[in-house]
Amino acid sequence: MKRIGILTSGGDAPGMNACIRAAVRTGLANDLAVVGIRRGYTGLIAGDGVPLDRRAIRNTIHMGGTILETSRSPDFYTREGRLKAAEAIERLGLDGIILIGGEGTFHGASLLAADADTAPLVGVPGSIDNDVYGTDYCIGFDTAANCAVEAIDRIRDTARSHERLFFIEVMGRTAGFLALESGIAGGAEELVIPEEEVSIARISERIRAGFITGKKSAIVVVAEGKTPGVSFEIAREVGERLNFDSRVVVLGHLQRGGPPTLRDRVLGSLLGVASVEALLEGQRECMVGEVGGNLRCTPLEETWQKKKPLNEDLVRIFPFLSE
Ligand code: F6P
Repeated sequence: MKRIGILTSGGDAPGMNACIRAAVRTGLANDLAVVGIRRGYTGLIAGDGVPLDRRAIRNTIHMGGTILETSRSPDFYTREGRLKAAEAIERLGLDGIILIGGEGTFHGASLLAADADTAPLVGVPGSIDNDVYGTDYCIGFDTAANCAVEAIDRIRDTARSHERLFFIEVMGRTAGFLALESGIAGGAEELVIPEEEVSIARISERIRAGFITGKKSAIVVVAEGKTPGVSFEIAREVGERLNFDSRVVVLGHLQRGGPPTLRDRVLGSLLGVASVEALLEGQRECMVGEVGGNLRCTPLEETWQKKKPLNEDLVRIFPFLSE
């Protein structure tokens, strides 16, 4: 193995730069040339590679976003697009590729491996949604969750002052990791997560009970699910039932930016090193992750085919913590 490529794909996540930096340093320490592929799968199809040396990754560990840029590439979901990408991999002379992204990225990588006899592919989980099977945490989740907690704390101040009900919408397309953990840490009164049916009756009754027992504010953390902005409708329905005034705050892409937390820098660094080591060991079509404090390689197909469950203990404790 002489030359490896690295790309970031799908939604950017804080800590991706720490991962790129670690992979480049590990590659160079093992006499590998490292090529950065710009703009995710869009750049891979175009063969848009740039050499990554020590200088290119210096002073990047603290930066949010991704220095390689990213994309969601509809073309990669066509066989034609993937065959172009396979040709570009040949042209760039890559003996292995590290893909930092989420389940969409790994689904695309599995399709590429099925369509073409390409260089080994090793994934690294990077997604603020944290919805990738094969790792307890994805790069970016901790920073996004801390951003949500800070927002909840700020809203609590004004909610308490006005004795108000707030709905705070966080990201999380198919999973409630962000909502659950930020909801617990922010002391939310209720949660709406994609894993559970929304019950307007339950939310309303719990909020009513809280105010009756002397609460001065209520916060419902809503995961946006497949419909960003969904909390406006939920707020309207709960408001009508309770005859209460409420406010809605949609955090949106605020959660995706900003400097990575310590946890995301450390996780990004650890998995960046592990991804190059996996390639050097001859692993292919797998994702490096951390499970129960141990590094683990999971076949790429499992990372997007299997559903990662929420932490059962956190789900169990939420209802009584929020009373
Ligand atoms: O990266 C995951 C995610 O942030 C989801 O939580 C969200 O639904 C989606 O990306 C938004 O995607 P985009 O930035 O393409 O609008």
